[in-house]
Amino acid sequence: METVTDPAIRAILAQRLLDHYAQHGRDLPWRRTREPYPVWLSEILLQQTGVKSVLPYYERFLDRFPTIQALAAAPLETVLTCWQGLGYYRRAVHLHAAAQQVVQHHQGRLPDEMASLLKLPGIGPSTAGAILAIAFNQHHAILDGNVKRVLSRLLALDHPPDSTPGKKILWETARLLTPLGHAGTHAQAIMDLGATLCRPRSPDCPHCPWNAWCAAHAKGQPAAYPATMSREVSKPHQYQFNALVVRQDRSLLLVPRPAQGLLGGLWCPPGDDPGPTATPPQAWQVQQWLADRYGLQVHLPQPLETVDHIFTHFRLTVFPFFCPWQAGDPPSDSGHRWVVPGTDQMPPISTLHRKVLRRFFKD
Ligand code: ADE
Repeated sequence: METVTDPAIRAILAQRLLDHYAQHGRDLPWRRTREPYPVWLSEILLQQTGVKSVLPYYERFLDRFPTIQALAAAPLETVLTCWQGLGYYRRAVHLHAAAQQVVQHHQGRLPDEMASLLKLPGIGPSTAGAILAIAFNQHHAILDGNVKRVLSRLLALDHPPDSTPGKKILWETARLLTPLGHAGTHAQAIMDLGATLCRPRSPDCPHCPWNAWCAAHAKGQPAAYPATMSREVSKPHQYQFNALVVRQDRSLLLVPRPAQGLLGGLWCPPGDDPGPTATPPQAWQVQQWLADRYGLQVHLPQPLETVDHIFTHFRLTVFPFFCPWQAGDPPSDSGHRWVVPGTDQMPPISTLHRKVLRRFFKD
């Protein structure tokens, strides 16, 4: 802890990081602007997602929704379509709702103070800190996943970063290390350090501007930090089936997912809720289920190759079935649609369900 309690060392650390960033910082499109809307958008896109995946989405999203007003006025479905493939769709739902609140309550301008930002959906203390530091040049610290890792190593912190004591120590450290007058650049620099050198596995300590002060490096085991919560070791495994009901014209039945649940607002083939049963259902059971639940008659379902997917809190295995349609149409209150995959009438679909569709629609 001496590292951060000694103001002289703090000043050296801050300066070395800024120098390193000036020389090696990545040139990223959201770093060429200080406009609040693109800064906000980039911070939301970069929550839980790496720079490489975010780049094309950032450009496309800004082309499609160039202003907060344009985003607020768009239907949620259009926003989700633009987001599809990126994962963590709740972010898009929150971003859209927040844009509408900004238009309604803040004359279409993103607020420039902490309390108002924190009231907007999808903006927590770290994202708010990043926006205020980067777009408004205010003195705020950030603590996203990258920064948690960097600081846990710097201190060789024995508490997991998301434990109560861990969070407290890391926020305090993040604040202490943020240099006055340079909060925005420091935020970009420390996130870069985490993404490029202080990587989760095989950190590149020899090139790190902080290696001489890093307690985990001094112990010879940087990758042993951050400490993990023991319950994080294995994720529960869940299973479900999906019925790909296909008519002769290759149109496929899709139903909307409940707005509040997993992948809310997106569309998927009919299926059961995830549960613990590891064996696939029998073909006749899927056939019966479609009849009971949707009033559909299908020819005997054919099992397709299973699909595995990892979510934040659990693993999911899907058993897809090709179900050739015979007769019937779901009740209109199911909100269903018949769509031909590959055409532009497709509603937004998650990466998981696109994998499922590809088991039958190879193109
Ligand atoms: N992760 C979160 N915010 C970021 C940013 N502004 N630049 C790079 N990676 C980030």
